[in-house]
Amino acid sequence: MPFPHVLLSAAVSLDGYLDDTGPERLLLSGPADFDRVDEVRASVDAILVGAGTIRADNPRLLVNSAERRAGRVAAGKPPYPLKVTVSGSGDLDPAAKFWHTGGDKVVYTTEDGARRLKASDLAADVVPLGPELDWRALLTHLHDVRGVRRLMVEGGGTVHTQLLRQGLADELQLVLAPLFVGAPDAPRLFGPGPYQGGRLRLLESRTIGDVVLMRYEPTAPGVGGTASAADRHWLALACELAALCPPSRTAFSVGAVVVAQDGTELARGYSREGGDPLAHAEEAALAKIAPGDPRLAGATVYSSLEPCAQRASRPRPCAQLILDAGVRRVVTAWREPDTFVAGADGSGVLARAGADVVVLPEYAAAAKAPNEHLAERG
Ligand SMILES: NC(=O)c1ccc[n+]([C@@H]2O[C@H](COP(=O)([O-])OP(=O)(O)OC[C@H]3O[C@@H](n4cnc5c(N)ncnc54)[C@H](OP(=O)(O)O)[C@@H]3O)[C@@H](O)[C@H]2O)c1
Repeated sequence: MPFPHVLLSAAVSLDGYLDDTGPERLLLSGPADFDRVDEVRASVDAILVGAGTIRADNPRLLVNSAERRAGRVAAGKPPYPLKVTVSGSGDLDPAAKFWHTGGDKVVYTTEDGARRLKASDLAADVVPLGPELDWRALLTHLHDVRGVRRLMVEGGGTVHTQLLRQGLADELQLVLAPLFVGAPDAPRLFGPGPYQGGRLRLLESRTIGDVVLMRYEPTAPGVGGTASAADRHWLALACELAALCPPSRTAFSVGAVVVAQDGTELARGYSREGGDPLAHAEEAALAKIAPGDPRLAGATVYSSLEPCAQRASRPRPCAQLILDAGVRRVVTAWREPDTFVAGADGSGVLARAGADVVVLPEYAAAAKAPNEHLAERG
């Protein structure tokens, strides 16, 4: 199920706090960065904050620039993005500025929260998601029902922490402000608990006045059959690698990446890499990793086309190579068509051996693109 692109946005002090403990909101950014935030808001379909931020800051969450609003309208969008909040309790003040400024509003809540909110006459669409608030259900609803493709999340820490830990954040836009808070009870950006083991990918760093913007991408694969945002990024890379393959009329062009559980890239490869006319992408990537590397057991193989189940050119098909390497999770974009082998079912071979196979069909077009010349064959 496709989700919106989820962009976490926050500013923190040098000691990692989102705010101080005073009654007024602590201004961490400067004017130039607030203008950047305005630009990001203008670029998204929806902005989400937690109920805690509405209670603490009473924010409006508007696109302040008239030119940017006009630009949205010219592009066929409403002047303001949809405003979204989450509340389990339903304890939301109907007089808060959130409800009385900007465009449409929606509250995602629990069944209990919805009962309470019904009585409070909020100027918003109230969507109960069951006894608990499930973030995947929320993102699916935003995508499918509200048409949201880009979601900006502006805090607070409780919300950011959950989206990052659950592998649902595509991007983190973090601004570091040159001041200290030093109050142990002040809210932090990320709470204690488990996070992905390895390093996030730094996409950009930029000085904006006296603050620094850093953009990061989480890298950790999902778990089992559940896809993470990073799974989508790695699969997109595999599809890009497929475009590097020397062309062939007798074999697919495929890209593959092998990624450890902590988000470390172990190897990448593509079909016919290095001038070997028979090389398959997964084979080329796995050949670069020492057999028995302990990271293989928790690794994920990303392949633009599902690993092959039968192969005339070499003794072991890629599904078997993956299993023999000890890998038990595969993410792919495209099930193999009957072009060269009838009824190929690499996913079935993997699944029957206990591997998790995740198919993300939203990348099928990218996976097929370098193979269009083969389409007439099958
Ligand atoms: N510096 C920055 O960039 C920035 C940005 C935003 C906010 N902030 C600061 O962050 C602080 C607020 O952060 P916060 O962590 O307290 O609040 P928050 O993340 O804004 O909101 C937390 C609330 O959202 C609801 N919620 C979140 N996850 C839920 C789930 N899985 N199920 C049900 N409800 C859920 C709950 O509402 P209910 O309690 O109603 O159930 C929860 O109390 C403020 O001090 C604000 O100034 C700073």
